[in-house]
Amino acid sequence: MSEKRPETMKRINTPELAEQFILEQVEAIKAQVGDQKVLLALSGGVDSSVVAALLIKAIGRQLVCVHVNHGLLRKGEPEQVVEVFGKQLNANLVYVDATDRFLDKLAGVSDPETKRKIIGKEFIDVFAEEAKKQEGIKFLAQGTIYPDILESEGVKAHHNVGGLPAELNFELVEPVKFLYKDEVRVVGKQLGLPDQMVFRQPFPGPGLGVRCVGAITRDRLEALRAADAIVREEIGKLDQIPWQYFCAIPDFVSTGIRYVDGKGERYMGWAVVIRAVNTVDAVTATVPEIPFKVLTTIRDRIIATVPGVNRVLWDISEKPVSTIEWE
Ligand code: XMP
Repeated sequence: MSEKRPETMKRINTPELAEQFILEQVEAIKAQVGDQKVLLALSGGVDSSVVAALLIKAIGRQLVCVHVNHGLLRKGEPEQVVEVFGKQLNANLVYVDATDRFLDKLAGVSDPETKRKIIGKEFIDVFAEEAKKQEGIKFLAQGTIYPDILESEGVKAHHNVGGLPAELNFELVEPVKFLYKDEVRVVGKQLGLPDQMVFRQPFPGPGLGVRCVGAITRDRLEALRAADAIVREEIGKLDQIPWQYFCAIPDFVSTGIRYVDGKGERYMGWAVVIRAVNTVDAVTATVPEIPFKVLTTIRDRIIATVPGVNRVLWDISEKPVSTIEWE
């Protein structure tokens, strides 16, 4: 099949065009897979969610969605996948909580590239194990989108399912491979997926693993997840929502003071970093103004509720020279 978007293809920017695309793809998927089963690694990101919803519409429970929770997802994400796909859409969903496997492998590893490799390899291992448990599956659905084809020769790097073992020789089903991201979102909206999923911010495949700087420990990871949820909730209330906004946690401690029975005592705690950027293509990025009241609300909520954190920082660095992620 050609890997070039047909020149006649209209830009999908209205519900009507999205509906037409959905109807065409439903027919194409049915024609391709017949009564066979299809496997999909469902991360809960925009692309895999839209592919899942399309396939569910086309073939229902012939689609087997595998959601691997690597323990590095944001607060509420695995629960949302189970709620939306498992319950509302009645998907054939296999939920794998592999948190311990990932965190055990990552223990003591501080080099960013090594962390990424461990997470990528473990993801493939867990997914392949689940795939082998499913009998007679010939098809693998993937959320490849057009920029993936243009930029990286069709490799959906952050989906991490590219390097499956040779015996798992699937035929690919890639219904959104000619769509740009904004078109995938219009289709997702038309399919009835929640806005939280459809308009999700970019999120690295290795997830909070890149934002929990240095060697990940469970307690520091939990602090990051909790602080990140607060940052996203408060900044998400702004009239002008930045392109991406999240929290990172460096691997150092600094002094704090707390009062026990009226007596001050010093203690060491973590610092969390608020990061918010605007960008068009993530190649360069600027830092939007955030009302000071919003920053102090975030600070107060984090300090009051997140164990182990005694300092809240705001990162005002632009890209270049600073990357968006802290990694
Ligand atoms: P940096 O940190 O390089 O990030 O300025 C640029 C953008 O890429 C996102 N990012 C990723 N996205 N898989 C992804 O899909 C990844 O592994 C990954 N790593 C970074 C980052 O969040 C930012 O939007």
